[in-house]
Amino acid sequence: MQLSDYLAQADALAHDARTLLDALDQATRLDDAKGQLNALKDERLVALQGALRSLAAEDRRAAGIAFNTLKTTIQESLDAFVARQSAGGEGQRFDATMPARRGWQGSLHPVTLVIDEICDIFRELGFTIALGPEAETERYNFGALNFPPDHPAMELHDTLYLGDDTLLRTHTSPVQVRTLQQFAPPVRVLAPGQVYRRDFFDATHAPAFMQLEGLAVDEGISFVDLKATLAEFARRFYGASRRVRFGPSYFPFVEPGAQMDVEVDLNDGKGLRWVEILGCGMVHPNVLEAAGLDSERFTGWAFGMGPARIAMSRYDIHDIRQLYDSDVRFLEQFAR
Ligand code: PHE
Repeated sequence: MQLSDYLAQADALAHDARTLLDALDQATRLDDAKGQLNALKDERLVALQGALRSLAAEDRRAAGIAFNTLKTTIQESLDAFVARQSAGGEGQRFDATMPARRGWQGSLHPVTLVIDEICDIFRELGFTIALGPEAETERYNFGALNFPPDHPAMELHDTLYLGDDTLLRTHTSPVQVRTLQQFAPPVRVLAPGQVYRRDFFDATHAPAFMQLEGLAVDEGISFVDLKATLAEFARRFYGASRRVRFGPSYFPFVEPGAQMDVEVDLNDGKGLRWVEILGCGMVHPNVLEAAGLDSERFTGWAFGMGPARIAMSRYDIHDIRQLYDSDVRFLEQFAR
C-alpha cells in the first residue's frame, strides 16, 4: 500500500468515528455507543494496523504516527462521550427544580401507632408509663396476682417456662405488683409490653403479642372511677358518639372483674357491633397485700387490653400474622 492511501484511509476512519460520535445523542445508551465505536475499531482500525506491514519500510514511521494519532483520537472521543453521558448528559436530564424524591424512612408499626395513641390519651388523664421484665418469676406472673396454685393458666400448655421458677410473662399484670412495690400511692400507670403464650400462630393468635396494662391505686378509688376513666378513654379513642358497656368477667387478680365492650364498625358492611376491648376490675385485696399495701386503706382498679386486636379492627386487618410478617408493602400503608 502507498503511504498516501494509508493516510487517506486513516483520515476517513477518523472522520467516520467523529461523525458516529456526533450522531450519538444524549439518549443513546452508553453500551450502544461503545458497541458502535468498538465495531469501528475492531474492523477498520485493526485492518489499518495490519496494513502497516504492507508499507515500504521508509513510510512506516509516518504511517505509524498517523495510526497512533487515530487510535488516540477514537479513544478520546469515546472517553469524551462517556464523560458527557455521565456528567453533562445526565445533567441535562436531571431537573434540579424537581422536588427531591422522599427517601423511605420507615414508619411506625400499626400496633405501635395504637399503643402511642392510647398512651397519649391516658397521659392526659394523669397516667405515666411503667415497664417490667418479659422474663418473670412465677410469683409475679401468678402467685402475687392471686392465682391459686393449681390455676389452669399456669399449666405448661399456656405458659412458656424458661426454668423452674422463671417464665415468659403471660400478661402485663405482674407490672401492677412491681409498680406498687416501688411507688407509694397515688399510682396511675400504663404498662405496655410484650407477653407470651403457648398458642398456635394462626389468623387470630400469636404466641407473642403486645398488651397494655393500666393501674390506678389510691385511697378512696371506686368502681365509678374505673367506669368513668375507661368510658372517657373509649370516647376519645373511638369517637365521642360510641357507646360502651360493662359486663361481668373473671380474673383472679380483680374483684369484681369486668369487661368493657365498645360499639365498633369492623368495615364489613354490617355496621356497629359490640366488641370486647379490655378486661378490667377492682384490684383484689390479696394483690394489694402481696405488694405490701394495706388493703383496708387503699383501693384501685386495673385493666388490660390487646393493642394488636384494636389495631386489627381499626385498620381492617383480618390476619394477625400480617402484623409480624415485616412485609414492607403492608407496613408502608401506615407511613404518615
Ligand atoms: N391480665 C389479663 C389478661 O391477660 C387482663 C386484665 C388486666 C384483666 C387487668 C383485668 C385487669 O387477660
